[in-house]
Amino acid sequence: MQQSVGGGTSALSGPRFAVPYIVHYLRDPIAFYADARRRWGDPFMLNSFNGRLVITGRAELVREIFAADPASFGTWGADAVAPFIGPTSVLLTSGARHRRQRKLLMPPFHGARMRAYGEAMMQAARREVAGWPRQGVFRLLPAMQRISLAVIVETVFGIRDAVRRADWSSAIVATMDAVHPAMLFIPSLQREFGGIGPWARFRRAMARLDAMIAAEITARRTRDADGDDVLRLLLGATDEDGLAMPDDEVRDQLVTLLVAGHETTALALSWALYELARDPASCARVRDELGDATAPDVITRLPLLDAVCQETLRRHPVVADVARLPLQPMTLDGYPIPPGAAVMPAIAAAHFDPAVFPDPAAFRPERFLEQHVAPYAFFPFGGGARRCIGAAFALYEMKLALAVIVRAGTLTLRDPGPVSIQHRGLTLGPRGGLPVRFVAAR
Ligand code: HEM
Repeated sequence: MQQSVGGGTSALSGPRFAVPYIVHYLRDPIAFYADARRRWGDPFMLNSFNGRLVITGRAELVREIFAADPASFGTWGADAVAPFIGPTSVLLTSGARHRRQRKLLMPPFHGARMRAYGEAMMQAARREVAGWPRQGVFRLLPAMQRISLAVIVETVFGIRDAVRRADWSSAIVATMDAVHPAMLFIPSLQREFGGIGPWARFRRAMARLDAMIAAEITARRTRDADGDDVLRLLLGATDEDGLAMPDDEVRDQLVTLLVAGHETTALALSWALYELARDPASCARVRDELGDATAPDVITRLPLLDAVCQETLRRHPVVADVARLPLQPMTLDGYPIPPGAAVMPAIAAAHFDPAVFPDPAAFRPERFLEQHVAPYAFFPFGGGARRCIGAAFALYEMKLALAVIVRAGTLTLRDPGPVSIQHRGLTLGPRGGLPVRFVAAR
């Protein structure tokens, strides 16, 4: 059953009754988008619980959205997401405040400041591998989370001490694990039922993390801070009137970076190792390419390793889609966007377009060596004025951690078959966390 919007012959198609399709989306967005393309074409419209969406995975339409004046968009779904990251998070602000926050947050995640974390990234990976059981099965996703957490906690708070790092890690993981995806997509579930249920569990975990962040902010405001971590930058920042950023706003950025910076990178790393474990020949080529390179700046420039990371992010998008809310009348592909509807460039649709990526379900890093991938056909980090702040940092970390792990030995999957996807909050991960065995290199 279809519905139409717009006037005359301009009609966007999409399901009249969306619930079964939203359930499909929640179960597997990649399969949902492939099915949607066949049913309704591209773009199409969906009535989600958070409002109407006009969705596209076509590069030329994605480009129109990302290249448009940022001032013509507001943020979408803020009410659903704000309780998790805070209303003043850089993910939710717009206009001048958003630009100012980005400018403040970007430097540690780029250029020389980012490269200074190279050794710490490799050390985090080495520490993790050293603790892996030489016999028996362990899950890859929590292992990759430990690496990315160590890195982000150091970048954001400057914490290198093992005990404090473990405290922070457990509070962050408990909070992330308590985010049930349904609470984001069906905001009415954000309610307590007598202290029990997923929302109450999330609130308790968040309260613990908030208390730790508040204590850290107070401690750093009162002592003369050194180091070049993000917290120090935030505490030192002033607005055009010379006023310091309020604690609430500092807190929202810290939560955003901790959440956005660790889970995403851990998922991407897990998927990369999953693919390399399934394809020992590719893994051997990566090992050959690495040779005896040890310098982060050499490793992160290796073409095959880069292609493995790009193809991982294509084949296993960590974020399925991004949304923008038009603040003025807009058309997309000739269709007028209905008032109040958001436009949504769908990463999980674009990356599986067979016209751009033949045999899209296959993992083939060579695609990124052989073909020039058109911008806006591949956008794992979103685009335009809201493109991921941590894109370069995440790729740097992925490459260095992969280099350490691939060299250290061989991973085999306990279950070698295809793995289904699990929504984890706003991200997509492997269901079951990828149980593996590890044999150390001699
Ligand atoms: C493989 C890892 C990662 C992936 C796939 C990823 C993906 C994304 C995506 C799709 C967006 C939305 C972009 C848009 O709306 O156009 C985003 C935003 C963002 N990401 Fe990442 N991310 C990753 C790692 C990181 C890291 C390491 C950080 C840490 C600093 C980070 C911080 C952010 C922030 C702060 C935003 C909000 C930007 C804004 O709204 O202006 N991300 N990310």
